[in-house]
Amino acid sequence: MPGIRTMPNDSTLKTFIVAGGLCLVCSIIVSGAAVGLRPMQQANKLLDKQKNVLQVVGRYEPGMNIVEEFSTFEPKLVDLDTGNYAEGDASKFDQRAAAKDPKLSEKIPAAEDIAKIKRRPNKAQVFLAKSESGGVQYYILPISGYGLWSTMRGYLALESDAQTVKGVIFYDQAETPGLGGEVANPQWLANWPGKLVYGSNGEPQLTVVKGSAARSGDQAKYEIDGLAGATLTTRGVANLIEYWMGENGFKKYLDKVRS
Ligand SMILES: Cc1cc2nc3c(=O)[nH]c(=O)nc-3n(C[C@H](O)[C@H](O)[C@H](O)COP(=O)(O)O)c2cc1C
Repeated sequence: MPGIRTMPNDSTLKTFIVAGGLCLVCSIIVSGAAVGLRPMQQANKLLDKQKNVLQVVGRYEPGMNIVEEFSTFEPKLVDLDTGNYAEGDASKFDQRAAAKDPKLSEKIPAAEDIAKIKRRPNKAQVFLAKSESGGVQYYILPISGYGLWSTMRGYLALESDAQTVKGVIFYDQAETPGLGGEVANPQWLANWPGKLVYGSNGEPQLTVVKGSAARSGDQAKYEIDGLAGATLTTRGVANLIEYWMGENGFKKYLDKVRS
């Protein structure tokens, strides 16, 4: 068989050998890059999560040392069935992965799945922001639920009374920009601080309404303006708040914190 150099350039065999060799070299480069960059991707993912947690309590500023600021926050695992803190390494807990693992989560009966998340992890990862005196200043709780097109993921931060909203963010969603995507608009998110989660009967009352929220009276404490032209995303946010603040979400935990 002639060597590859001596083969004519228009030979079919040479074309296949060169194309095959090129594919092999490229696949080695691509898979090498994927494996080599994985630790960097994971570090960036963690940094992004820490930034979101800082942001929801207003402690993020561009250019700041995120890792240093975040080190004052305490991650905790909450057993959602009992509302007690659970054993385990809270800092490394991957709640999203847990929600997919049948051993670490449970299927939500269709009638109760108002947030349309299908499975609920048995444990949730919360963060405690500490005040200068060392007490808990804010409780930061992960929330998620389906909008019109996507699962919206975010954090809800409560003041130390475990009742008053400090802030909300949605860091991951794929609703339509300009419509449902306005869930991530800081102007809309500015409506949340100061609202209350639980009514005088102890049940979750915080909600997002279609159109304008009540401006006076008792309801004004619990209502947020809906997103214009995005009633379905608005309803998704209202539903996910109702779910995560309810009995199957953080209600047991927050009741215990308050008492
Ligand atoms: C291309 C397109 C994208 C849309 N994206 C959203 C969306 O992200 N969220 C949403 O609630 N409604 C979205 N809508 C509108 C819904 O279909 C529906 O009309 C709307 O939620 C009704 O809201 P309204 O009662 O406030 O008008 C979209 C509509 C179109 C045509």
